[in-house]
Amino acid sequence: MHKQARIIAICHPKGGVGKTTTTMILAAALAERAYRVLVADCDAQASASAWASAAPEGKPFPAAVVNLSTYAGKVHREIQKHLDNYDFIVVDCPPGLESLSPQSAILVADLVIVPLPPSPADFWAARGVKLLIERGTDFNPGMKAGILPNRVVRTSLSRAIMRELNDFGIPLLSSRLTNRTAYQEAVVSGMSVSALGPDAKVAADEVSVLADEVLALLGESK
Ligand SMILES: Nc1ncnc2c1ncn2[C@@H]1O[C@H](COP(=O)(O)OP(=O)(O)OP(=O)(O)O)[C@@H](O)[C@H]1O
Ligand SMILES: [Mg+2]
Repeated sequence: MHKQARIIAICHPKGGVGKTTTTMILAAALAERAYRVLVADCDAQASASAWASAAPEGKPFPAAVVNLSTYAGKVHREIQKHLDNYDFIVVDCPPGLESLSPQSAILVADLVIVPLPPSPADFWAARGVKLLIERGTDFNPGMKAGILPNRVVRTSLSRAIMRELNDFGIPLLSSRLTNRTAYQEAVVSGMSVSALGPDAKVAADEVSVLADEVLALLGESK
């Protein structure tokens, strides 16, 4: 049976928390499971588009990427034009609370993922996205949201913030991305983490767990 694409928006107002990384590794993992996946790059920095275009000759990035950064508050309409042609649309939102595209993407998202390094500065900045999600739920009541701890390290401060996240008001995903060079290598090489080979196995396993959790949240069977 033909279904419309499910929309996954990756949002956080602060720069450098892992939005593009989460977008691209998740999009690639879903595409490698034979889903039709589109990345909607809503950031004027166009990092997702640059990632895909760094792919080696003959080995394209597994998901399609479209640059929607000029549409700002009308991004949701552009995204909806692609609903019939994909199973998943992953939206890479730009940083900045004043930016209109995260608000626009949240209007149509089935799932919002907030990547969050467990550091005090990123934790405080995520309060802005909580507000955005609460407002978004008024318009889009079926929308789910989850925090994805990213760049997780084994320190007592990191563990203390993870405990705080349990009461943050947005559900904490059970997946985690640890701090690994494989995630940085994937960006530079334009590849998925799993295509990096055996050295990236731990990262590939983390991404696979994330893809499983996202599919389960969206009611897709494995
Ligand atoms: N789990 C991780 N382990 C190691 N490095 C990471 C991890 N997640 C992200 N990074 C690195 O952190 C930097 C910022 O990540 P990314 O570009 O995904 O953030 P962003 O939120 O999209 O930033 P911006 O707001 O500027 O768009 C990149 O160099 C990326 O490779
Ligand atoms: Mg980015």
